[in-house]
Amino acid sequence: MWIFRFSSNLKNFFRLLSIIRIIVGHYLANWFTTGPLRVIFDPRGKNRKTRSERLRLIIEDLGPTFIKFGQIVADRPDIASEGLRTELKKLQSSARPMPDDIAIQIIENEIGADIDTIFSEFNPHHIASASIAQVYLATLQTGEKVVLKVQRPNIRNKIRLDIKLLQIFARKIQAQYPEISNFNLIRFIEDFGDIMLKELDFMNELSNMMRFTHMFKGDDRVYIPKVYSKYSTSKLLVMEFIEGEAPDNLANLITKGYDAKIIAENGVNVILSMILRHGFFHADPHSGNLFIRGDNQLVMIDFGMCASLKPKQIDGLIDFLIGFSDGNPHKIAKALLKLTEVDNLRDMESLEFEIKELTQKYTYFDYDNVDISGLFTDTFKLLMKYGITIPSSLYMLLKTLVTIQKVAESLQVKLDLIAMVKPYAKEKIKERFGWKNIKSKLVSSAEDYLYLIETLPKDIKAIVTNFKQDGIKHNIRLGEEGNSIGNNQLRWHIYRLGSIMLLGILLISATLLKVFNVQIVISKDGRPVMKDGEPVMQEIFGNFPDVFFVTVVILCIFAALRMTFRAR
Ligand SMILES: Nc1ncnc2c1ncn2[C@@H]1O[C@H](COP(=O)(O)OP(=O)(O)O)[C@@H](O)[C@H]1O
Ligand SMILES: [Mg+2]
Repeated sequence: MWIFRFSSNLKNFFRLLSIIRIIVGHYLANWFTTGPLRVIFDPRGKNRKTRSERLRLIIEDLGPTFIKFGQIVADRPDIASEGLRTELKKLQSSARPMPDDIAIQIIENEIGADIDTIFSEFNPHHIASASIAQVYLATLQTGEKVVLKVQRPNIRNKIRLDIKLLQIFARKIQAQYPEISNFNLIRFIEDFGDIMLKELDFMNELSNMMRFTHMFKGDDRVYIPKVYSKYSTSKLLVMEFIEGEAPDNLANLITKGYDAKIIAENGVNVILSMILRHGFFHADPHSGNLFIRGDNQLVMIDFGMCASLKPKQIDGLIDFLIGFSDGNPHKIAKALLKLTEVDNLRDMESLEFEIKELTQKYTYFDYDNVDISGLFTDTFKLLMKYGITIPSSLYMLLKTLVTIQKVAESLQVKLDLIAMVKPYAKEKIKERFGWKNIKSKLVSSAEDYLYLIETLPKDIKAIVTNFKQDGIKHNIRLGEEGNSIGNNQLRWHIYRLGSIMLLGILLISATLLKVFNVQIVISKDGRPVMKDGEPVMQEIFGNFPDVFFVTVVILCIFAALRMTFRAR
């Protein structure tokens, strides 16, 4: 049996036993409070727990892998019910802090030196303890105050073991219940394993911090602590100590003269900039990972969990939000396909119809009241109905937006998220239709055409040689039986291929003229004169490359339209 095969490894076996012990322990305790013996052990029902509550307590006892798993499921409305998600959001680590002397030993091992040689001061009591790491305060010999994030010993192996176990369960469940195939459990566990193992590698967190520092260089709204790569390893992260206020303690912020509105706007803008400008974002910006200091500046920490979006997905996201604010179901549907990287959908019309119905539900809200979580959740559910898989980065995006919206709410500031997206949208649209982008696209298609021109003669030669050697062996069947419809189709395809090639060549020439900025101006006597000549006829002809380029583009558009309509 698979359990025995899995258990052949002693470590796995003991972990499996401990999991079973924890689960059975909870069920027994539950039996005493809900079974026939409840009249003796819990007559007033004080210790009675709901199913969701019991599940949360079991998960807390199962340790960091399962806690993280529960936290991720808590953000997935497609997997868990509202009640269960509310309960899972309460998940907290029940792990006891690791002894400080063990942590100090790990620090010395990782740095490869005694702490006294590196630090002028070292506080031997941790300032924070979580399921994966413990945090210490110290001062470098150079006088800089630093924080040391130390990974718990052997945690990587424990987590790997749990992930392996989850994978085995996932495979079993998927094989046993194939009807849940529209939710890919195996893939979900794989993604989860990747997230978890990445978070365990502090070098990954360090590189994320450097990337964000670079992204926000010169932007005073946000600060990322300096990291000391010299002392950091995959198990130890040494970074600048930050002194600041918690962003969710409004009374304290007001007393200290901070402006809640500016803080909330900064927070949301920084997150939007990460997502929409850079396509790389902090996936857990809750208030425990933020500080406020100085001139309402936001400091972010804990970059273990970050996610990225592809440029096409960013465009899709912007179009989605703008389409929503314009009430344009067609735009929304197209944007969603971009966002989920689906090329084609057969049932586009009915998707658009359902989107229209869905947006009606939100139309009556003010935009500063839009429940962004609800909007995305409903949209994702709808997409799943159409068999579209939602990439896990989009769930992270949803989580990030909801988290930062909650931080803004805790500051009692209502923000119009859609209005805040608009400047980024404008920027993107400008970029999309900017000459730089068009030029790079044209150059890349010119390259494709050049390649085609380069390889075509060879291909033609190969075909001709083939014909010469083997004679015409192949039956070319057109339409059903080589009838006139087929012949027309063949003629149409040849015509289309010819036109595409001709336009391609024209487009390359026009692009090259434009890219190399060749300026031909027609002089008084009608002869073309280069740049320094008198631009007498320029009012009529403009610059030749411009006229040529615009004409070719118009021709291309015309040809594309004609082909599209003919194809229909
Ligand atoms: N640079 C820092 N300056 C001040 N406190 C910090 C810093 N880094 C971490 N901490 C403290 O340690 C806690 C845990 O660190 P964090 O990186 O968030 O780890 P975890 O992944 O366990 O949440 C934080 O909530 C914060 O209180
Ligand atoms: Mg944290």
